[in-house]
Amino acid sequence: MYNENDFDKIDINVEPPVEEPARQYYFIAKCREWVKSFEQKNGRLPKSCVTTFGCQMNARDSEKLTGILKQAGFLMTEDENADFVIYNTCTVRDNANQKVYGRLGVLNGYKRRNPEMRIALCGCMMQEPSVTTKIRESYPFVDLIFGTHNIYKFAELLAGMYEKEAGMTMDIWEDTDKIVEDLPVSRKYPFKSGINIMFGCNNFCSYCIVPYVRGRERSRNPEEILKEIKSLVSEGVVEVMLLGQNVNSYGKNLESPISFAELLTEVEKIEGLERIRFMTSHPKDLSDELIAVMKNSKKICRHLHLPLQSGSTRILKEMNRRYTKESYLALAEKIRREIPDISITTDIIVGFPGETPDDVEETIDVIKKVRFENAFTFIYSKRTGTPAAAMENQVPSEVVKEQFQKVLKTVQDMARERVVRFEGQTVEVLAEEVNEQDSRLLTGRMSNNLLVHFPADTEMIGKIVKVRLDACHGFYYLGSILSSK
Ligand code: SAH
Ligand code: SF4
Ligand code: F3S
Repeated sequence: MYNENDFDKIDINVEPPVEEPARQYYFIAKCREWVKSFEQKNGRLPKSCVTTFGCQMNARDSEKLTGILKQAGFLMTEDENADFVIYNTCTVRDNANQKVYGRLGVLNGYKRRNPEMRIALCGCMMQEPSVTTKIRESYPFVDLIFGTHNIYKFAELLAGMYEKEAGMTMDIWEDTDKIVEDLPVSRKYPFKSGINIMFGCNNFCSYCIVPYVRGRERSRNPEEILKEIKSLVSEGVVEVMLLGQNVNSYGKNLESPISFAELLTEVEKIEGLERIRFMTSHPKDLSDELIAVMKNSKKICRHLHLPLQSGSTRILKEMNRRYTKESYLALAEKIRREIPDISITTDIIVGFPGETPDDVEETIDVIKKVRFENAFTFIYSKRTGTPAAAMENQVPSEVVKEQFQKVLKTVQDMARERVVRFEGQTVEVLAEEVNEQDSRLLTGRMSNNLLVHFPADTEMIGKIVKVRLDACHGFYYLGSILSSK
């Protein structure tokens, strides 16, 4: 493990080491030199902004980018009018891409006024050749581009960019089997943290671009995961979220295979850790062993995100999801039976090629039968290079919009009905932050992932407290604090 002061002891006048992470420590030391010279020239430290698009994986990656920037000596800001701005991009649906293009125009304006400014792009969008071509042609003011597979090289790329007078640096890898451990990370919350347990995805759902931009599935060694969680707990973390595109297939390809349920059992043993969450579970791989471990656990939260995508067996087959409407329903029923206080949430896509109003009725039927506590509903977005993009029967957007509204209404009605059932109960809540609308309130999360706002002192942030759920307001609660644990 690195130590902050050690960076200044690294000799940057010799050749960089070949092995990782020592090589990146060397380049962090180089960046520190650059920061010092910036400070001498400008009488202040350089400011840096990391903007994240997309999922929890990207959020975690951004904590790694921030960790390196902080170790290099940058001041972090949320203002994009900064000396170094990096966008960690997402490409799961086209609107994520459009947001990035729109905001790049604004960054260009800042850069005209501050020619020393440097702009970097990384993340999933950069793994698409059509994107990098477009940026090269239409956004030449971007200084650095890299992808998802070589993000661990960020310090090296940053140092290289600052050594160069001008021009774009681009380093995109097609795939990797490498996992580099022990790089600096700067967490957004002191009391909770995401942990990657695996990278990539092998499922190739026919609509989804993630396997193409994140590469093949690779699991981290359980020892590394446990070591990281223990170290987080020693720093004050009480809740972890284990991250992977399909956590249920964790560990299958390791040299000594281990199941996700077995990993959870080990994580549970870590003293001082209070809560365990995970994302995402693919229904096809959810085992009875996992249900049993969840049921008997004191720490695993009563929440399961179990993406349905569609309730029509025919569409599910076209999506390459490898389960049927009936098997999903049976699984959800088993989970509800075994763990009655669990919340089940889901993802739904409306408008997949060839989807008819009858297929949508099947989806609505599943929503009503499973009675999801919450669901994220997405309009199908055509992703170049995926099998679904080449399907001929794309659904016209007016039809999709109409069907989408129908699904959304069912989801919302159902969630409202489900959420109210906790009214009057006293539950444990992790107090997370000051409420955005009313600073007298704190916002916390129940084990089942529902939000509750309650009057309390900011000192309570990061603590698990007992809260009575006084009133349900649609999707959240107002409560009153009874005691801290
Ligand atoms: N690995 C996770 C999902 C990651 S992507 C899983 O399999 O559950 C998050 C969600 O985005 C998916 O569950 C899906 O509902 C949605 N999504 C993915 N590709 C999409 C596309 N092309 N159009 C619309 N929504 C999409
Ligand atoms: Fe995409 Fe399917 Fe992999 Fe999830 S499991 S990331 S939806 S391909
Ligand atoms: Fe987006 Fe990449 Fe996550 S495409 S959803 S940021 S894995």
